[in-house]
Amino acid sequence: MEFQGITSGFTEGNVEALAVAAYKGEKASEFKDLDLVASGQIAAAMKAGEFKGDAGEFLLIRLTPKGKLKASKLLLVGAGDRSDQRESAISVASGAATRYLRKCNVKSFAFDARSNSDAVTVAQNAVQGAITSQFELDKYKTKDKNDKAVNKVVVYVAGAKSADLNKGIERGRIIGDSMNFTRDLANEPPNILHPTEMAKRAQVMAKETGLKCEILDEAKMKRLGMGSLLSVSLGSEQPAKLIVLRYTPTKSTAKKGDLLAFVGKGITFDTGGISLKPGDGMDAMKYDMSGGATVLGTMRAIALLKPSIPVLGIVAAVENMPDGRATRPSDIVTAMNGKTIEILNTDAEGRLILADAVAYAEKQGANRIVDMATLTGAVIIALGEHNTGIMGNDQGLIDEIISCGKEAGEGFWQLPVGGEYSKQIRSDIADIKNIGPRGKAGTIMGAVFIQEFVDKAKWAHLDIAGTAWADGVKPHQAKGPTGVAIRSLIKLVERSQ
Ligand code: BES
Ligand code: ZN
Ligand code: ZN
Repeated sequence: MEFQGITSGFTEGNVEALAVAAYKGEKASEFKDLDLVASGQIAAAMKAGEFKGDAGEFLLIRLTPKGKLKASKLLLVGAGDRSDQRESAISVASGAATRYLRKCNVKSFAFDARSNSDAVTVAQNAVQGAITSQFELDKYKTKDKNDKAVNKVVVYVAGAKSADLNKGIERGRIIGDSMNFTRDLANEPPNILHPTEMAKRAQVMAKETGLKCEILDEAKMKRLGMGSLLSVSLGSEQPAKLIVLRYTPTKSTAKKGDLLAFVGKGITFDTGGISLKPGDGMDAMKYDMSGGATVLGTMRAIALLKPSIPVLGIVAAVENMPDGRATRPSDIVTAMNGKTIEILNTDAEGRLILADAVAYAEKQGANRIVDMATLTGAVIIALGEHNTGIMGNDQGLIDEIISCGKEAGEGFWQLPVGGEYSKQIRSDIADIKNIGPRGKAGTIMGAVFIQEFVDKAKWAHLDIAGTAWADGVKPHQAKGPTGVAIRSLIKLVERSQ
């Protein structure tokens, strides 16, 4: 996709359409200048109550190209309440415009977000929204593929500096492409994206972006004592891989000893193992590597945005299968930190692989760890699709992520952890067990389990089981993998500089 920034002459670009965000309750008079090229149609439609500026609303107006006006369509995109505007309103509006106009066979349009945000933010979000809106699930279709595409967007911010626009465009492209990189991984079928393939894709991405990448194989993990992680892959023909990515800034502004790590659950398919899941809906478990894919996409963006602090990215890529060699409920394993675990349900496997992965992150020097995982079905029951569950041992880190999410338009909702909850995973015959009592705080049980493997680091856990996959299409987004948390985590890194 091609992007261009302009600071004046919105209606004069060489584009097929104009798209303009309109906020709830705005009067026709606010579009007076624009309405000159629309021959009063905006005012007429607003007067007739045909368009109110609600989020998800559209008004398409035909224009007559004349003189400097080349566009033949004007699209008003409802952007909702201006007072609760977050930057994500810009990306949602630009994404909705892109998808709408794409359907009308439009290949190029100019976009005016009419936002109060600074020019870098506007351009960044406009570009990211346009890029992520065009992601489709049709990679493996040989016919009926979506063959329409918008390939040029002109971003207009009145009176901005072009340098700011260009910076925002570049940032938006990096973030949008990185989100789509994550979404493409999450959408891959598990026969194609097994742990070895996930590691390969990480290596290729690392090479392209200048990250250091190391892949730990099962022999290496065994030497490190990762008995918890390895217990999950015993039933699989596919060997587990621990993907380790390192971003090192040329000039670091980090305090000595500070290292932020992102750790992701990369279960490329979760059958449940011997505690086999019901067949109905099991196919959805290809997305059980979304936490890992989020780490890869975030690290891709970090490598290209080049913040001034080092970041470590770790993905535990494992397949959970039933087999004669698979872990049985009641097996006891020893994790890298020496703790013994009674495995009572092999379907609670995400926490088992994250146990060793977070311990490894801390061993590598991380003093802030954020793990992300499609960890529990319970978080979907609690929070649905609209909030990621967040838990952790450090309120400062949790608050910071929630606040980054507010800016990015991504919801995080905190659940408690602590003493009484931790008691619920004490085992009669080992140090801990991998499940708590049935039906009691399932999401928290996952978190307090992982907490057992964090030593001194500040740690937050994101349960993205409900937010990593959208069950329906939205005006700005295809159904399927969402790339959730990437924008918030980039903010976390950039705020830490
Ligand atoms: N990958 C699942 C969590 C999940 C379930 C995500 C449904 C999305 C939709 C995880 O490995 C799992 O199976 N968790 C169990 C834990 C239970 C056995 C304690 C669950 O949530 O049922
Ligand atoms: Zn499971
Ligand atoms: Zn799982």
